[in-house]
Parts: sequence; C-alpha cells; structure tokens
Amino acid sequence: MAASSSGPATRRVQRALVTGSAGFIGSHLAETLARSGTTVIGVDRRDPATDRTAAANLTSLHGLPSYTHITADLATCAIDPLLIDADVVFHLAGIPGVRPSWGPRFVDYVNCNIFATQRLMESLTRMHVPRLVVASSSSVYGAAVGGPSVESDPPHPVSPYAVTKLAEEQLCLAHSTRSNCPTRVVALRYFTVYGPRQRPDMFTHRALEAALTGQPLRLYGNGHQRRDFTYIDDVVSATMAAATTPEAQGVINVGGGANTSLLEVINAVKRVVGSDIHIHLAGPNDGDVPATRADPSRARQLLGWQPRVELHSGLHHQMLAMAQPVHGTAA
Ligand code: NAD
Ligand code: UGA
Repeated sequence: MAASSSGPATRRVQRALVTGSAGFIGSHLAETLARSGTTVIGVDRRDPATDRTAAANLTSLHGLPSYTHITADLATCAIDPLLIDADVVFHLAGIPGVRPSWGPRFVDYVNCNIFATQRLMESLTRMHVPRLVVASSSSVYGAAVGGPSVESDPPHPVSPYAVTKLAEEQLCLAHSTRSNCPTRVVALRYFTVYGPRQRPDMFTHRALEAALTGQPLRLYGNGHQRRDFTYIDDVVSATMAAATTPEAQGVINVGGGANTSLLEVINAVKRVVGSDIHIHLAGPNDGDVPATRADPSRARQLLGWQPRVELHSGLHHQMLAMAQPVHGTAA
C-alpha cells in the first residue's frame, strides 16, 4: 500500500530501536523500517517461543537480515546496550487497553507505561540518542464530545490507562528539557488504530471475527460511541515521518479528523464480509469516551502527513489478513 507522507525534507534512519516490536503497531513499524534499509533492533517482553500472538506478529520479520529480535522487559533489563549507535528510538512498548486498566492490573500499566519509560529516558540520555518517537494516545483528551481535539487542548484523561499514557508522554518531554539530555522527543497521539494484526481485544477485530465466525459481538453501551479510526499503514507513515523530519518535536495527533460510530462500523463490516453480525448488548464501561476525533493540522504541517486509507478499504485488508492461516512458531 502507498506511503501516506509526502512532506518536508527528510533524513533516512540508519539504525533504530523499536520497543514493543512483537506487538500490533511495533511489528508493522519494524518491518517497514527493516525493508527500507534501516538496521532495526526490536525488543519486547513477550517471548515468541511461548506467546502465540507475538510469534504471529513477528512472522513477517523472519529472515530479514536487517532485523534482530530481543526478548527483554524494559522495566528490568539493561537498556544501554540496545542503544549503541541508534539514531532513533521508537517507543511503542506498553500496556494498551482502556477497559482492563481499572483494577488489579493497574500496577502493570504503571510499571510498563511509566516506570519502563523513565528507565528508557535515562538510558537515552546516557547513550546520547538524538531522537525518540513515543506512542501516546488519543485517550489523553478524555471525553471530547464536540469538535476535533487539538494538541493544545487541556488533557482530561478518564481512565487509569489514559492517565499512564499522559504521564508517559509528559515524562519523555520533561526529560528532553534537561540540560544533559540530547534527545529530541516527538509524542504521537495515535487515534484507534486498526488493520492486520490488530489486538484481538479491539473493536474492529471483534466485529470482523463475529462476522467471520458467527460468534456474537459484545457491544458495550449503545454503539453510538464514535472513533477516529486510523489505518495501520497510515500510522506507520506518520511514525516514520516523525523520526525523519528534522523540525518535528512535541505532541502531534495521528488521526484523520473524521469519526465513525460503532454501529456504522458494524454495518461496514457486514458489507465487507458479506454476512450478518449477532450483537450481544453489554453495559457501558467506565472510561469509555463517547467520541474521539483528531485535528490533524499539526501532523499535516509538520510531517506533511495525511491518511490515505479509508475505513471500508482498511477493513477489507484486515478481513483478508484474519482469514489467512497464522504461521506463528509458539508451541
Ligand atoms: P500491543 O499490545 O500489540 O503492543 C505492545 C507491545 O509492548 C506488546 O507486545 C508488549 O509485550 C510490549 N511491552 C509491554 N510492556 C513491555 C515492557 N515492559 N518491556 C518490553 N515490552 C513490553 O499494543 P499496540 O496496539 O501495538 O500499541 C502499541 C503502543 O501504541 C502502546 O504504547 C499503546 O498504548 C499505543 N497506542 C495504541 C493505539 C491503538 O489503537 N492500538 C492507540 C493509541 C496508542
Ligand atoms: C483504542 C486502543 O485500544 C487503545 O490502546 C488506544 O490508546 C486508544 O484506542 C486511543 O485511541 O488512544 P478504544 O478506542 O477504546 O481504545 O478502542 P477499542 O478497544 O477498539 O474500543 C472502541 C469502542 O468499541 C469502545 O467504545 C468500546 O467500548 C467498544 N467495544 C470494544 C465494544 O463495544 N465491544 C468490544 O468487544 C470491544
């Protein structure tokens, strides 16, 4: 699929560390970087030898000589050796779901999204890494009901997850102001990313799965929640542009500026798959914002980025990937 960015003067990334490279977004980014000639080290705490999802996500990276995979936890491992000669770190490792962040798993969110990020920033400073691109989240805006969210809007996170993502991006930006820190930081606020390898807890995956298998789709709330759904290839393009555009710095939205309701997605999925979806109505979830919508002006101006893939086509690609057998190596 065509790249989505055609922006200002850019440099090529020679050597990169991708954290969370066995995950949904990280595996796509690592693959695109490695195929474009960047030497990539990927690190993830999920071991592809024992974790089926990690193995499946990493399948497309097998055999790429420019990619090296390391299984390690950033909350405890030695980070400095991973950064030798790196000109960019893409920090995508983290615990991503909104709903499970209430309750006992919160400690994992703090450990991975905040504490591990603090360790990474200390290493970046020590190792003189010039640039960090960190994955932040549209959830930091909270319950934006009206117009598009602008980066300068005051954040109002309404879930523990969103609080940790706001802390994560602000922690990176705070480190970048230190006199001894050589790292320029770009925090990308991704808006609900979808496409092949999407996490199985996410809505578009579940809607496609329901249409493909006939299993019921659990719908939280009334289905009028709206999201600025952003296709994975567009997210990868924005992320690469954030690393190679010299002026890029600070917080930048990565979302197209339009949104779609869950009921509209259900109808789109029915058309794409060509079968019905049985809906099981469930109650609303705390922290589930009614709507997200990016103001993409800053991404357009700074990165020359605009999304290319519209929802129907993106869902079609995701459906094709889900219908294929998985070739993971996990036992
Ligand atoms: P994912 O769960 O598929 O990938 C995250 C990966 O990070 C996992 O493979 C996990 O094992 C790894 N990880 C977590 N903690 C780690 C640690 N301490 N050390 C090493 N590895 C660790 O999630 P994703 O959907 O690809 O999201 C990637 C990033 O983007 C996350 O930071 C998430 O908060 C952010 N984000 C995602 C979306 C989205 O719609 N998917 C939207 C906004 C922001
Ligand atoms: C998503 C990602 O999961 C987060 O990692 C990310 O940080 C966030 O986007 C973001 O944009 O920053 P969310 O929008 O909640 O969070 O994405 P989904 O989990 O796909 O949920 C979307 C909507 O579908 C929510 O209203 C949710 O309640 C609903 N949903 C989800 C269901 O009705 N049923 C399901 O089985 C799953």
